[in-house]
Amino acid sequence: MAKDTLTITDNRTGRNYEVPIEDDTVKATDLRQIKVNDDDFGLMTYDPAFMNTAACRSAITYIDGDQGILRYRGYPIEQLAERATFLEVAYLLAEGELPTRTQLDQFTETIKFHTYVHTNITKFLEGFRYDAHPMGMLLGVVGALSTFYPDAKHIHDPANRALQKVRLLAKVPTIAAFAFRHSRGLPLVFPDNDLDYIGNFVNMTFSIGGRHKPNKVLQHALEILLILHADHEQNCSTSAVRAVGSSHVDPFSAISAGIAALYGPLHGGANEAVLQMLDEIGDKQHIPKFIDEVKAGRGRLMGFGHRVYKSYDPRAKLIKKVADEVFEQTGLNPKLEIALELERIALEDEYFVKRKLYPNVDFYSGLIYQAMGYPTEYFTVLFALGRMPGWLAQWEEMLLDKDQKIARPRQIFTGHDERAFVPVEKR
Ligand code: SDX
Repeated sequence: MAKDTLTITDNRTGRNYEVPIEDDTVKATDLRQIKVNDDDFGLMTYDPAFMNTAACRSAITYIDGDQGILRYRGYPIEQLAERATFLEVAYLLAEGELPTRTQLDQFTETIKFHTYVHTNITKFLEGFRYDAHPMGMLLGVVGALSTFYPDAKHIHDPANRALQKVRLLAKVPTIAAFAFRHSRGLPLVFPDNDLDYIGNFVNMTFSIGGRHKPNKVLQHALEILLILHADHEQNCSTSAVRAVGSSHVDPFSAISAGIAALYGPLHGGANEAVLQMLDEIGDKQHIPKFIDEVKAGRGRLMGFGHRVYKSYDPRAKLIKKVADEVFEQTGLNPKLEIALELERIALEDEYFVKRKLYPNVDFYSGLIYQAMGYPTEYFTVLFALGRMPGWLAQWEEMLLDKDQKIARPRQIFTGHDERAFVPVEKR
C-alpha cells in the first residue's frame, strides 16, 4: 500500500532517507538528517521569496489560484461581498463564524466605543508635511499607538488581545480620515457614532460643515471593496505581520509592519501605480507602444499578475461589477476606457497569456476610488482599512499556533572566509 513518505537517495553518500509527507508537504527540518559527514549541519531548502514554502497552517482564508477561488472561513467571497457587511466579515475572520444578531450588535457597539483617538494623535498629524504620503502617515501613527496602550504588550491574555484588535479596527478609520483631512488642509472631523462603520469613515473624510450627505451607492460600493480586501492568506503584508508578531511585540507594532509592506508598489501600492500607469499611457492609441515596452522588460503592467492566481483574480471580477454601479453614479472615468482596452489587448497577447498574467484586485479598484473622490496616493490607505481584520486574525492565529516560534530564516553564506583586520594606514 502506498505510503505517505518520500524516499530520498543522497548520491553523495548512496544513503537513503525516508521523510513523511503531510498535507502535500515535507518538513524542511526533516532534511537536516541528510549529511555527508556527521558534523555537517545537514540539508536545508533554499526558497527566496517563499515561492514554494508553507510558513504556517491557517484556517482563515482559502485560495485556489487555478480555479480563481477565494473563501473566508469557507464562505465564497462572491456571497460575502453581496450579502455581508464589513463588520460581519471582520467578525467572521476573527472568530471563525458569522455573528448572530446579538453578537453583531455587541461587536458594533464595542467598535463604536473605541473610534476616538488620543488628542495627541492630532498633534502628530500636524507634524507631517502638507504633501506627506498618507501611507507614511498611517504607518507612523499606527506604530505610535503602541505608546498610548502599553497594556497591548500582554499578548497572551485573550481579553487584552480582543481589546487591542477592537482598538485597531475602530481607530484606524479615524486615523485614515484624519490623514486625508490633513492632506487637504481641512479641519478634522471626529467620529459620529450615530453612523455605521463605513458611514462614519465617509463622514470623517468628506464632511464639509455638518454631516456629509453620502451617495448610498458609492458608500455600499466602498463597503464591498473593503470586504474584497479583508484577507488573502499569506500575502507579503500578512507575512510581515506574522513575522514581526512572532517576536511577541504588541499588535500595533506588528500591524504597522503590515502597513509598511502593503505600501510597496508590487503589493498594495499597485492600485496607485495603476492610475499612474494609465496617466502615463494617456490615450488608447498609446497602448500598443506601452505594451511593447512592458514585453521588452522595460516596466510592468501594474494591476496585472499574481503569485497565486494564475487565472482571473475573483476579486477583480467583482470589482469590475462595482465599477459599473459606481460609474453610473459618477459618470465614466475616462481612464476606464484605457484600462478596458489594456485588459483586452493583454488577455490576447502571448506574452501575458504564457505568463498567466490576468488583472488582479488592484487593476480596477483605483479607478473606483478616484471616482469616489479619493486622491491616488490615498488608494492604498483604503486597501489597508480593508485588510485590517485579516491582519489581526492572522496575527492571533500565529500566536495561538503551537507550531510557531520566532521567525528566523537561515541563509546560504556567500561572503569571505576568515581574514585578518588591516589597519587603515595599510589599506
Ligand atoms: C496584491 O499576494 C497577494 O495575495 C497580494 C494581494 C493581496 O490581496 O494581498 O493579492 C494584493 O499585491 C496584488 C498584486 C499587485 N501588484 C501588481 O499589480 C504589480 C504588478 N504585478 C507584478 O509585479 C507581479 O505580477 C506580482 C508581484 C504581483 C507577482 O510577482 P511574482 O509572482 O513574483 O512573478 P514574477 O515577478 O516572478 O513574474 C513572473 C514573470 C516574469 O517574467 P519572466 O522573468 O518569466 O520573463 O511574469 C512577468 C515577470 O517579468 N510579470 C509581469 C508582470 N507580473 C509578472 N510582466 C509584466 N507586467 C506584470 N504585471
